[in-house]
Amino acid sequence: MHASLVVAHPSPASFSHALADAARGILQAHGYAIDWHDLYAEGFDPVQRTGESGNTASDDALVERHCAELARADLILIFHPNWWGQPPAILKGWIDRVFRLDTAYGYPVGTSWDGVPTGLLRARHALVFNTSNTPAEREAAVFGDPLQAIWARCVFGLCGVDSVIRRMYGPVAASDEAQRAGWRAEVEALVAQAALPA
Ligand SMILES: Cc1cc2nc3c(=O)[nH]c(=O)nc-3n(C[C@H](O)[C@H](O)[C@H](O)COP(=O)(O)O)c2cc1C
Repeated sequence: MHASLVVAHPSPASFSHALADAARGILQAHGYAIDWHDLYAEGFDPVQRTGESGNTASDDALVERHCAELARADLILIFHPNWWGQPPAILKGWIDRVFRLDTAYGYPVGTSWDGVPTGLLRARHALVFNTSNTPAEREAAVFGDPLQAIWARCVFGLCGVDSVIRRMYGPVAASDEAQRAGWRAEVEALVAQAALPA
């Protein structure tokens, strides 16, 4: 069993990284092979190159590796902060380059851009864990929680992963250690549940 785990936060001391580390421990305990990527640490290039716009192949070996890992993943886990209601740019570029045609989605035979795309990913669950500094009620009431639509509908829904488990923890800046321990424990429980065989 393979888990693809991506963390996108510039600081290794962030709470996003702490949650990713906690998830890794759970996955290891369940015997998963983990494809671990800290996008900042590995210098992932988020800019889609000219000529890659057909987006079925890349001359960037790291992009090819990410695509292969995404395609084989039983679980996909993503950890990132809420930046302007969106993923950090490095993660947006990862989506642009890695969730590509014929890897993450395709078109029914006989159709092309005019057809309704079908998802190709085989993962049983996608888990997305966000951190933020906006109270949850304000995020929902004022901004409409755009990250929920991005991940559940625009990305994973389109690519065939119907089970999207997502949480947003915060405000991190106002949290104490006890609260953060509770959030970590929830992540561990959700990952443990998702890690169980189908
Ligand atoms: C460029 C930038 C944009 C941000 N935009 C938001 C935002 O729209 N909503 C929000 O709640 N927090 C926002 N934040 C705060 C981060 O979400 C917050 O620092 C982070 O989630 C705290 O957890 P961490 O330890 O994982 O960084 C932003 C931070 C930065 C640097």
